[in-house]
Amino acid sequence: MIHTNIALFGGAGFIGSHLARRLLREDYHLTIVDIDDEKIADVRSDDRVDFYELDIRDGDDGTVWTIIEAADVVIDLIAYANPKQYVDMPLEVVHLNYDQNLRLVEDCVATDTRLIQFSTSEVYGKTGGRTGEDLVFSEDSSDLTMGPVENHRWIYATAKQLLERMVHAHGIENDLDWTVIRPFNFIGREMDYLIREPDAGTPRVFASFMSALLYDHPMYLVDGGENRRSFTHISDAVEAMVYVIDGEERYNREVVNVGTPGNETTIHDLAYLMRDVYEAQSGNGSVPPIKTVSGAEFYGEGYEDCERRIPDVTKLTDAGWEPQYDLRETLEEAMSYYVEKYDQPEAVSLD
Ligand code: UGA
Repeated sequence: MIHTNIALFGGAGFIGSHLARRLLREDYHLTIVDIDDEKIADVRSDDRVDFYELDIRDGDDGTVWTIIEAADVVIDLIAYANPKQYVDMPLEVVHLNYDQNLRLVEDCVATDTRLIQFSTSEVYGKTGGRTGEDLVFSEDSSDLTMGPVENHRWIYATAKQLLERMVHAHGIENDLDWTVIRPFNFIGREMDYLIREPDAGTPRVFASFMSALLYDHPMYLVDGGENRRSFTHISDAVEAMVYVIDGEERYNREVVNVGTPGNETTIHDLAYLMRDVYEAQSGNGSVPPIKTVSGAEFYGEGYEDCERRIPDVTKLTDAGWEPQYDLRETLEEAMSYYVEKYDQPEAVSLD
């Protein structure tokens, strides 16, 4: 079934902007809601796109309700998704990621609108004593293992987990049609933001290392960079989303991992690979030093990390989806954008 009207809440962010561009290659009408439109100037000019600049935390004067009621599908991407934020402002993270998002869920229930809710791979939590096959996270069988309350980084994952459980419960009690997406470290062009100085903010690791390479400050390996992630090219991720959007029956009331298991790497190796790609692309023989810091120094007290995150993606591969980018190709494609656009200091804009 082709959905003609998709409401993208948080649709002007990193994932939303790439998803919108992909959906506009097909016959969709998009209603995009976000707090700004910096990443979607090109998308906005398409006459199949309506854009609403609003913050769902400001209360609903009826606009949000009307958008949801008119939509065939709501895709909710609104979230703080940066570990530094979970440590610095845990209450605001829960307020946005749980309280405010739950209102959108309830509007979908009340208007009988299909919901695709973005969650996070972080709900799986710590690797703990998992070994062998248990290291691969499966949506319907893996346990979700949070650290102690004192390590309040986990407040984000528990809020997201509760939102998932509420979505699930609305399916049982109120017949909500839903799919929950758990993204595994998508990277690509315009992810997060760049920082000119090492202490100017803490974007996620790809943007952090990219900033270090462009502005020549150290690449920091938190706790030696021994933790691992499975990085996913944003194009592969949004292609998976098209499968989910079009596969209403297959994916109804399912939690779906979106990730590239074959791209698992340590953060240490990611840093060296990014230096390698940067040297090849920029022709710049000088790359910044790599330094180790503790999690508490880098993020603040209350930080604790997930050691490994490998997705089971059979729900997608069974439908025919396959990731196209290996890790090096993912980095080459994403980094070439920055090298071409920003690698001339006098022309830099941090917008
Ligand atoms: C974050 C969010 O918490 C998740 O909700 C989200 O699903 C995920 O990003 C994602 O992008 O999908 P995390 O994987 O911890 O989770 O995000 P990063 O900040 O990119 O950190 C990845 C690893 O790199 C961590 O071990 C972190 O300590 C390390 N890191 C980060 C560094 O070593 N140096 C840096 O400069 C930044």
